[in-house]
Amino acid sequence: MKRELTLNKLPAKVLAQLDLETVFIASRCAIAAERLQVFRKLDGKELSAAQIAQRAGIHRKHCEPFLNYLVFLGLLKKRGNLYRNSQLVIKHFLKARSIDWTRLWSYECVRDFEALTVMEEVISTGRGWRKILGKERKTDYELVQEDRQWARDFTYALYDYDRPNAEILARNLELSNYRKLLDVGGGSGVMSFALVRANPKLTTCILEYPLVCEVANEIIRKERLSRRVKTLAGDMNKAIPRGFDVIMFWNIGFITTQVMKMAYRSLPEGGMVVRNCSLPLKPKTLPPSAFLHGYLSVRPQGQSGPDIIKSLEDASFTAVKCRQISKNLGVITAHKRNIRKRRVPER
Ligand SMILES: C[S@@+](CC[C@H](N)C(=O)[O-])C[C@H]1O[C@@H](n2cnc3c(N)ncnc32)[C@H](O)[C@@H]1O
Repeated sequence: MKRELTLNKLPAKVLAQLDLETVFIASRCAIAAERLQVFRKLDGKELSAAQIAQRAGIHRKHCEPFLNYLVFLGLLKKRGNLYRNSQLVIKHFLKARSIDWTRLWSYECVRDFEALTVMEEVISTGRGWRKILGKERKTDYELVQEDRQWARDFTYALYDYDRPNAEILARNLELSNYRKLLDVGGGSGVMSFALVRANPKLTTCILEYPLVCEVANEIIRKERLSRRVKTLAGDMNKAIPRGFDVIMFWNIGFITTQVMKMAYRSLPEGGMVVRNCSLPLKPKTLPPSAFLHGYLSVRPQGQSGPDIIKSLEDASFTAVKCRQISKNLGVITAHKRNIRKRRVPER
C-alpha cells in the first residue's frame, strides 16, 4: 500500500520529540483517528472536542487529550477550543485517498500492529503470526469472491493506488496495431481506462470475479467509458475467452503456466500477451521491505521476472521482451507466432 505521509513531512519539532522505541504510539494514534474518521468528520469544518466526540464516537474522557495529541503531531490545528484539519491531513489523508482506501488501509495497519506483537516468537520459531495468535484468515482473492464490502474497499483502494502506474503503462505500451484487449484480473479497470484513452481505436474487457465486476461497472460508468470498457465475470484459472488480440495480466500475483497456455490458445496468430514485473529482474540483495512482506504475508506473492519469462516460453510464446517503464516497474510482452501456412505440394 502507498505510504504517502512519510515522516520527513512532519514538522521538525515533532520529529525531534519522537524516539525510535515509542514512535509506534504516534503512528497508532494517526491510525485510530483515521479509523474513527476524525479527519473526515472535520473536513471543511472547525469543531469543538464535544462535537467531535459525538460525531466520531470518542469517549469524553479521552477526546480532548487525544485531539491535542493529534495537534502535537501536526495533524490537527487548534484555535481557541475549536479543532480543524492541518494542511498535511487535507493533502495526504483526504485528497489522496477515497473513503474505501481509508477503510482498507487503516484495517491493514491495525492488523500489522497485531501481527508485530509476536515478532520474537515468529522470528525465533519460523511460525506465522496468524497461527501463533489463532487468527487464520482467507486470502485477498478468496475474500473478493465472497465479501461484497471487502471487494468494494479493495477494488476502490486499488483504483486510487494504481492510477499513476496506469498512466506510465499507457505512455509506454505500443497498442496502435491492436483493437481488443482482455484485461485479466483488471480490478477497477484503472489500467484499461488509461489504455483506451491513449489508444482511440482500442476497446477492453475486464475479466474478473463477479463481485469485483459489480464495482468495476460502477466505476466504468463514472469514468464515462461504458462503450469502450466492458466486464466479464469469470475466473482466469477456468477459462480465458477468445476474441481478443491482446491479453494483459497486470498485477495479479502468481499465474500458472497452465493459464499462460490457455491465453496462448485463445489469442489469434500475431496476438500479444502483456504482464507486469518488478525490477531489477535479478536483484542482488533483498529490499528492506522483504522482511515485513514475508512476515505479514497477506498479499498473494507475485512472480520474479525470470520466472514469468520462463512461463511464457513454456507456453510457446515467442519474442519475449522485458522493458523498464519506471524506476521499479517493468513490462513484459510476448507474441503468438504467425505460423505461415505451409504449401501443400500438388500431386
Ligand atoms: C491486485 S488486483 C490488480 C487489479 C488491476 N489489474 C490493477 O492493476 O489495478 C488483482 C485482481 O486480480 C483479480 N483476480 C485474482 N485472481 C483471479 C482469477 N483467478 N480470475 C479473475 N480475476 C482474478 C482479483 O479479484 C483482483 O481484482
